Amino acid sequence: MANKAFTLTHPDTGQTSELPLVTGTLGTPAIDVRGINKDQGIFTFDPAFTSTCSCESAITYIDGENGVLMYRGYPVDQLAEKSSFLEVAYLILYGELPTPAQLDEFVEAITQHTMLNESLIKFFDGFHYDAHPMAMLTGIVGSLSAFYHDTTDINNPQHREIFARRMIAKIPTIAAAAYKHSIGQPKIYPSNDLDYCSNFLRMLFAVPAERYEVDPVAAKALDVLFILHADHEQNASTSTVRLAGSTGCNPYAAISTGIAALWGPAHGGANEAVLNMLGEIGDVSNVPRFLEKAKDKNDPFRLMGFGHRVYKNFDPRATIIRGYCHQVLEHYNMQNNQLFELALELERIALEDDYFKERKLYPNVDFYSGIIYQALGIPVNMFTPMFAIARTVGWAAHWTEMQQDPGMRIGRPRQVYTGQTQREYVPADQR
Ligand code: CMC
Repeated sequence: MANKAFTLTHPDTGQTSELPLVTGTLGTPAIDVRGINKDQGIFTFDPAFTSTCSCESAITYIDGENGVLMYRGYPVDQLAEKSSFLEVAYLILYGELPTPAQLDEFVEAITQHTMLNESLIKFFDGFHYDAHPMAMLTGIVGSLSAFYHDTTDINNPQHREIFARRMIAKIPTIAAAAYKHSIGQPKIYPSNDLDYCSNFLRMLFAVPAERYEVDPVAAKALDVLFILHADHEQNASTSTVRLAGSTGCNPYAAISTGIAALWGPAHGGANEAVLNMLGEIGDVSNVPRFLEKAKDKNDPFRLMGFGHRVYKNFDPRATIIRGYCHQVLEHYNMQNNQLFELALELERIALEDDYFKERKLYPNVDFYSGIIYQALGIPVNMFTPMFAIARTVGWAAHWTEMQQDPGMRIGRPRQVYTGQTQREYVPADQR
């Protein structure tokens, strides 16, 4: 919606352009600069998109100054307390909380799509045992585009819906199979009498030789973590999915680009990096030394799990997860968990430090999630795949929203060229 406008005057030509102000239902308005290249022959320059909105979206709202996160208008803390991951998935995909009948139908559909094509399972054998599960996840999800040709007409709403449901259903099966491959155990088929998180835990931990009982506390903890990770508006991986999807590419291939982007330590890979960092710090007495390293601009070390592009007060997800850590650790009689103690102390000392205060650097979602994963017995290299399972909901929802947008065009940033000006080719014997 545009009503007000900025006026931009070219400093050389004096030519003016009216730049409409675009306002949403909440949050910071944006200047619509789409016309300025045509009007003024210039581009805007915003590497890393610190001031750029790439789309309109009705899915998730973040108020970074006040630590607010809402999916479709519902605060994430209410959803974490009262809802379930698949109900939240429905909300994110369809925009409204489901009726009981709608939820039943959705859960049933997800449950019926959990198996993988047998040929796809064989793909895992092409990976070395020491391949990172995120590498396998990226490859196998990309390979889904070689299957399911029947439902990849991106202009067909039914096809889009089946894609989203199938993706959400299969990603836990793929992640668990990647883990099983890495430890040389047989892959466990999904069990459709279990709920989403219980089924995933069973596929991850069960072995054919033994009975496996899912711990309901573990399943509930996972469900809450998945809710908190389900979407986060235009973050790097979601923007990657949107950019890939804007070309009209196969939707499964678009999701695999998101998984690749998520893996980076500045994004979802931070949860694994936090645990490795806490291990490296080892003891509370070493915290000051590592804080000095994090502040030293000549040292590449950063405090992993700290800082966020959008949250400049606190990350509401981190607050909920920190609270949940106490409950989970108590359940497993791990109240004196050394890593949790260390993380709490690290947070306390960092938040008293001027460097972190001035830059508004607070613990983010990845700072405490690994403590819970570890208490559940989930290995460190599976932390980022856990994030990917949950975020698949957001990626599928954003991809779908984009495909439904009548104004959708291929995403294509421009550049300020800083290379050589034109020169003549020099034959090899004259160089
Ligand atoms: N440790 C030390 N210094 C930091 C940190 C950190 N974790 N994060 C930011 N800074 C400093 C940074 O050096 C800069 O200082 P100065 O102004 O003196 O140059 C200032 O704070 C602003 O940081 P920035 O790098 O310009 O901020 P950004 O918005 O580009 O980056 C971030 C955000 C999350 C990538 C960054 O804070 C970071 O690398 N954090 C550690 C990795 C991490 O935890 N990532 C997970 C993010 S949340 C989950 C997700 O998105 O997947």
